[in-house]
Amino acid sequence: MKDIDWDALTFSLTPTDWMYVAEVNAGEAWMPGSLQPYANFSISPAAGVLNYGQGLFEGMKAYRTEADRIVFFRPEENARRMQAGADRLRMPPVPESLFVDAIEQVVHANRDWVPPCGRGALYVRPILFGSGPVLGVAPAPSFTFMIYCTPVGPYFKGGMSAISLVISEDHHRAAPGGSGGVKAIGNYAPGMMPSYAAKAAGFAEVIYLDAETHTCIEEVGAANFFCVKDGVLSTPSLTGTILPGITRASIIELARHRGLEVREERVTAEAAMAADEAFCCGTAAVISPIGSITHGEQVTTYGDGTPGPVTMDLYAHLTGLQAEREEDHFGWLHEVPDLG
Ligand code: PLP
Ligand code: COI
Repeated sequence: MKDIDWDALTFSLTPTDWMYVAEVNAGEAWMPGSLQPYANFSISPAAGVLNYGQGLFEGMKAYRTEADRIVFFRPEENARRMQAGADRLRMPPVPESLFVDAIEQVVHANRDWVPPCGRGALYVRPILFGSGPVLGVAPAPSFTFMIYCTPVGPYFKGGMSAISLVISEDHHRAAPGGSGGVKAIGNYAPGMMPSYAAKAAGFAEVIYLDAETHTCIEEVGAANFFCVKDGVLSTPSLTGTILPGITRASIIELARHRGLEVREERVTAEAAMAADEAFCCGTAAVISPIGSITHGEQVTTYGDGTPGPVTMDLYAHLTGLQAEREEDHFGWLHEVPDLG
């Protein structure tokens, strides 16, 4: 293992040793790519991604478990989500087997960067983009699938301490018929200004409401939203404007397995602010408890502002499963094989 201070890790980039690169021309089949030393690369000024944002990313983590194995969490789901995004952005979908083989290679090559169990994870970032030159607004003539990885710690400052969020009054993340349901790179830059303003005002992130009625919660920056009222979990249903989070789907299954009622429904800001607990979730965010939500003049503090019992229980079981402290009833872990 690398000699770094694992406990000082935040969600930021530490360059590692190897990246993976595959390229394809439009109309041809993907062939496996190769590992290359992690480095800058050259690209046409007219690349589709630079000019028209034809690009997608994924985010996944490789964990070192208590059994000292290195595992992914449901990597096939990331492969499928990237395929759905590729269809939406007119890019050739990367076959699931090639995707999984590629992430295994990258993690194996960078295995010394996987933090010790419970002290972070190796964040793996697959990207797919139009790399060939194009002038008119049209798909690029060629595409690149690239993967890099970096050891990370908590996404929000303070780890499991509850975060304060603010509902965005002036901005929306996605509209019906748009690209909110896929991990298009173009979905993220428009969130930077609202997020910056929220952070400058002392909040950890913004909550977006739906663009049609401006009444229902959609997402928290780059994480899905849940609240708990009288022991029942609610999360916004997948209407096409919300990113279908793999953590979200897993929490729904895990909670039901633990006997909780879970509803996927319209969650008004009003109902969310009257709930007993709230949290947001994602690969980067894991389960992050929400301590308070501000909506205009109104502020709701959940309980005493510390993580609630349902949130803590789900966190313990999700992270327990990922660390192999608990049995993987669902078959969600995927071991990174020893590729020699
Ligand atoms: N919502 C958005 C907008 C995201 O970018 C992410 C991160 O991938 C999520 C939700 C959570 O998704 P997942 O749990 O698959 O990481
Ligand atoms: C993730 O949770 O993996 C994300 O992609 C969130 C963010 C870092 C964009």
